Formats: sequence, structure tokens, C-alpha cells
Amino acid sequence: MKLGRLNHIGVATPSIADSVGYYREVMGATQITEPFDMPEQGVKVCFVDTPTDSGINGTQIELIEPLGEGSTIRGFLEKNPLGGQHHLCYEVPDIDEARSWFEGLGKRILGPTRIGAHGTPIFFLHPKDMMGQLTEIMETPRGGAAN
Ligand code: CO
Repeated sequence: MKLGRLNHIGVATPSIADSVGYYREVMGATQITEPFDMPEQGVKVCFVDTPTDSGINGTQIELIEPLGEGSTIRGFLEKNPLGGQHHLCYEVPDIDEARSWFEGLGKRILGPTRIGAHGTPIFFLHPKDMMGQLTEIMETPRGGAAN
């Protein structure tokens, strides 16, 4: 296991449109992707860039809105009606190696490795095995630490 950069922080919201407005008007964000649906996950998502001076892309905020009745984040929003921090996502150079590492340690992995919102393979680790934090592990996109 080799820890890579913090790719994004997942933030649940009851309204992506309202959150995007807030990031633009109050937080001064200038780079925000168009929202898109991920029906298999039951979510709509978009990404807010946090700029850096280095030329390497900064950590993003992944805004997540429920999509459909069975959405996995409905329960989270019932407990946190304003929304809030939902997960952290770390990059790793090799997703299969990382999965084997966590499995070997007996950590609970939530579902199969699948393609995430950035088009690269991801899996989720159970918060109870990650110091209370739902954690997404994502393979670094080919060509380096891109978003
Ligand atoms: Co995520």
C-alpha cells in the first residue's frame, strides 16, 4: 500500500445547484464541472476544484446529491439534513494491490472494485475499519495526478 494524494472530499448535499451557487458566490470557486448522473450509485455528482500554484491539480470537493429513491446517501441526508462531509478519497498507484492489502488486513470493503466518477477504478472501505471515516480508494489516473 502506497498512500497517494487526497484526490477529493465527498460532500453530500440536498441540492447540487444550491451548493454550486454557494461555492461560486461565497467561496469564490471558479472551476466547477457540470453535474452528471451516476445511476448505478444512485447519485448525481459534480466537482469543485481547489486551485494550487504548483500546476498539479488541487484536491476537489465532490458534491453528491441523491438520485432516485434507493440512493445510498438518502440515509446520510436524513441524519444530516444540511448535507456534510461524507467520505475521503485517496489515490493509490495500483488499485488491485491496494485492495489485496486491505483484504489481507481483514478490513471490510464495500462492494466490488468499480469505475468511479473520474473514470478510474475505485472501492470503498467501511468506516468502522477506517477510524470512523468512510474512505474511497481510487487508482491515480494514467498520466499522473490528474483530476
Ligand atoms: Co468520491
